[in-house]
This record gives sequence, structure tokens and C-alpha cells, in this order.
Amino acid sequence: MIGLSPTIKDVASLAGVSVATVSRHIHQNGYISESAEQKVINAINELGYKPVRNIRNKKMMTIGLVIPDITNPFFSELARAIEDACQEKGFAVLFCNSDQFHVKEKLYIEFFIERNVSGTIFATNNLSPEEYNKLTDAGIPIVVLDRIVNNPLCTSVKCNNYEGAKLAVKHLLEIGCKKIAHIYGPQEVTTGNERLQGYIDVVKDEPWYTPTLLAPGYFEIEGGMAAIETLLSRHPDIDGIFAGNDIMALGILKTLKRKNIKVPEEIAVCGFDGISFADIFEPGLTTIAQPIYEMGKKAAEILIDQINHHKPMGEQQAIEMNVELVVRESTQR
Ligand code: RIB
Repeated sequence: MIGLSPTIKDVASLAGVSVATVSRHIHQNGYISESAEQKVINAINELGYKPVRNIRNKKMMTIGLVIPDITNPFFSELARAIEDACQEKGFAVLFCNSDQFHVKEKLYIEFFIERNVSGTIFATNNLSPEEYNKLTDAGIPIVVLDRIVNNPLCTSVKCNNYEGAKLAVKHLLEIGCKKIAHIYGPQEVTTGNERLQGYIDVVKDEPWYTPTLLAPGYFEIEGGMAAIETLLSRHPDIDGIFAGNDIMALGILKTLKRKNIKVPEEIAVCGFDGISFADIFEPGLTTIAQPIYEMGKKAAEILIDQINHHKPMGEQQAIEMNVELVVRESTQR
């Protein structure tokens, strides 16, 4: 650290307290014992620490938003809704891309505490109870969006992935599909896992069902392209595909077109998300539309309510919104 200006971590380490405790002293919000406060003051003086900005009692009116991949239209549409809702209430939004890397999410948590943001929204599944407590101890409320973390204390806003997946598969059966495959998202993500379960619960008793009708697509375009190749090599007689999200469905449509396989006549395709591009795909993509804008708006509104009423822990809510089947050319037989 010699030569470098001391950080909040250096103060915490010298004082023998947590970073959150130092943050509470700097911003004078949340409980801190007299002895801990004195240790912090001594450490700050000894190190000559200067908080990033000398803002006592003033939140930066900024929301920290952590999403996995801003290049996926689902997340950019979600981020747009959040920014609209925040901007309306006078908050700016810090967009942070995690690429699903936990190490990046940890860095963003430190960053948010250091910058004393007003609140945070995480579309992630890595937030541990310790990380959740680190933020709330620093007086920073959190809302988890799109997917849930195993923490009953944490407010979450998501869609009904399980019922949506069942809706998709039943639609494919209703249009006459005789053998339906599923290209699924990452199973460590609750959205990927809930949709897979919905598919299995509809088809598991079908005489044609076998687990080899499942293939991973990693919620990526290229993943959808590779998965459909694998599935067709295993089962050339597939006539229906349920894709766990719309951009994998885009990859599937591209590959089927390259193979001169007619959609929906030979293979019908249904996606999940309801991104705005789904309408301009060729053929138009049937999908299970999430209420993307409403989910983002709701998450921002709940968070700002917690901020304005100084409820870092707030009364926790688990909000699940309904999805809708949007039928387009890719399943219109
Ligand atoms: O397309 C990205 C996927 O990851 C979406 O289905 C969304 O629900 C998120 O979980």
C-alpha cells in the first residue's frame, strides 16, 4: 500500500472491523458500537484515509444494477425499464456486467459499498447470504430480479418459468408435434432449471420421451446452433423444439434454415423471453413472453420504496409475474 492512497479495506484491517462497519461510520448510517467507532477513527487518522467523497448522511441517489450480459436483448430491455423507473424518481443507474462471474459480482459489491450507492438490483444467482448481509449492513438494500437466490430475506421479482415452459410444450403438442426436444439454459440458474422441469413434467409420460431429447444451449445463440445439430444427429425425426430462451431459438432457426429444414412444417420452434426482436425473426418466433418491462419497473419501484423509507431489510417479498404465449409463424401449421 506504500505510496498508494489507503482504501476502506486498509482502514477496516487496521481497525480490526469489517468494511461495512467503516462504511457505516463514514456515512453515519446503521449501528456501530463506541469502541468500534473509536478504532475506526484512529485507523483513519493513522492512515490519513480520505473517503472517496466526503458525503456524510447523503446517499449518491444512484442504483447499482448487476446483470449477466447486456448484449442479450432480454437484459437490455430489463435495464431500460429499470432506468426509466429510477430516472422518474431522481436516481441514476450504474450498469455492471457480471458475465455470470461470481468474482466480478464480488468486486461490484465492494464498489457499491465504497461508492455508497443508494440501493442495488442483482439479476444473478450467486449472491450469498454473507454478500447480501455485507450490503444491508452498509445500509444498502437489494432486490434480486429475474432469478432468485437461496435467501428468504431477499426480495425477488421473477416470472413463472415453470408454468411458462409447460405452456410452450402444450402448445407444440396441440399443433400436432409428435416428438419434442428441449434446448435448456444453465442449470445453476433458476430460470434455466425451472423451464427444464416444466418441459419434463409435460413430456415425461409420452412414449417417445427420452432424456436424449435434452441438450444444453447455455442461453447463447451459438449454444442453440450447436444443440440443434446434436439433437438432429440423435433424433432426425424431431418435429418440435422448445428453446429455453429467444436467442437460442434464433440460433436454432438459423441452423434449420441452413439445413433447408422447413419451419414450422417440418420442425416447429417455440422460444422463451418475448424480446422485441422475436417479431422480426424470419419466420416470426412463437415465444413465451415474460413481462420484461413490468418486472424491471417493479423491481426498481420496490427498491426505491425501501431506500426512501430507510428499510435496507424492508419487508421481503417474492413476486412472481405471469407469462403469455405469443403465437407467430414458427408454430403456425
Ligand atoms: O435470455 C436470457 C435468459 O436469462 C432469460 O430467459 C432470462 O430469464 C434470464 O434468466
